[in-house]
Amino acid sequence: MTPEQNDVLCRVECDAPMGQLMRRHWLPACMIEEVTEPDCAPLKVRLLGEDIVIFRDSNGRVGALDEKCPHRRASLVYGRNEECGLRCLYHGWKFDVDGNAVDMSSEPVDAALRKTMRTKAYPVQEAGGFIWLWMGDAEDILPFLPPTWAPTAETRISIVKMHGACNWAQVLEGSIDSAHSSSLHSSNMPTAANVSGSTATESAWLRPSADKSPRIEVQKTPFGFRYAAIRRPIVDADKQDYVRMTLFVAPFTVHIPPNDQYNLSQMLVPIDDENTMFYWVAWHPDPAKGIDQDAWRKFCGAEIGKDVEPITFRKKRNVENRYLQDRAAMKAGDFTGIYGIPAQDMAMWESMGVIADRRDDRLGSSDKAIFTFRAQMYRAAQAVAQGQPAIGATEPRIPHVDLASFEGMVPKGDDWRTIGVSEAERRIGPDNAD
Ligand code: FES
Ligand SMILES: [Fe+2]
Repeated sequence: MTPEQNDVLCRVECDAPMGQLMRRHWLPACMIEEVTEPDCAPLKVRLLGEDIVIFRDSNGRVGALDEKCPHRRASLVYGRNEECGLRCLYHGWKFDVDGNAVDMSSEPVDAALRKTMRTKAYPVQEAGGFIWLWMGDAEDILPFLPPTWAPTAETRISIVKMHGACNWAQVLEGSIDSAHSSSLHSSNMPTAANVSGSTATESAWLRPSADKSPRIEVQKTPFGFRYAAIRRPIVDADKQDYVRMTLFVAPFTVHIPPNDQYNLSQMLVPIDDENTMFYWVAWHPDPAKGIDQDAWRKFCGAEIGKDVEPITFRKKRNVENRYLQDRAAMKAGDFTGIYGIPAQDMAMWESMGVIADRRDDRLGSSDKAIFTFRAQMYRAAQAVAQGQPAIGATEPRIPHVDLASFEGMVPKGDDWRTIGVSEAERRIGPDNAD
């Protein structure tokens, strides 16, 4: 990609086309657990280069306001969250969840300013463990679709959250890159002859294949694409393939293949051009199954306070301390010497630089999904810049809860493209445009 094309793919701030494309989707701002209680501490979030304060008012309603007070720009994160509004500490102006100024104590009671004063407030939804914002124009607002990991209110949802000090696109390219799991995560996903699919233990996901060079096949769809990584299994390789099928849902959601105990989805959310919030959701529709929140964070090496800082979710093991890479462990057989799947990924993504230079990449056949992502999203951003609709934002949309990834043995000759395709998706069909 040329530097100009790369900028279109990567940059999201201000008027950047990719940021405009993302503003035509509901965007996750934070986890619900970060603002659980009425009148709890407000939270600062940064999304697409905009600084926003999130708070839950006395009645339990969530507000998302411009972080800066419209009076003289003090941060509302320090504000008092009380009696159904957020009060700026500086001169006491107070705003409700809709952005209305409900008190302006430094102004005379008859001041004209009082009648019209409001601040920027973003429409908000709560679903699937996240607070979602609409950051685009009001006339473009889409009906909210619950995320794939919230088919019912009872679904068990566990979330890992981690800050990445690099651009969102290189993080996303890691999520749609099945080939790397056979090297980078090989100690966490060891080969086992006695399993027929990905099998979760307390410390690893066993895998029925030792094939490190999967054949990648891609099928584009109106929401993005699905791709299969096809590997030779250890058992009956002449009769079956081990298929891991991943879905990319524009602009930044990826459903990676499940294991025998839980489903797995990721969101790679741009904080700004040079930072990304990585969310990894492990979920199961049956609340008695799946994995609990603490066990999931422990497995990933992403425990709050131990592995990541509270509030910022910045990593304690990071580029400054070389992710505490353990060379002795490597000599003893651990592939990376870095603890936890997300930290292994972060070390690779961040080592590419804050915005990877894609001029000299040498893509191979195992990078077919990466190539498809770059071309599809580059074109989609260009389309938005030319006034056309955003990818995934035109009706009829496939309900997100109807989208599913897949992994398992597939008899040779069967078409992976038909596996797990919902009736809604079948009706709309694939995207056969070149
Ligand atoms: S800066 Fe917020 S009330 Fe003055
Ligand atoms: Fe990875």
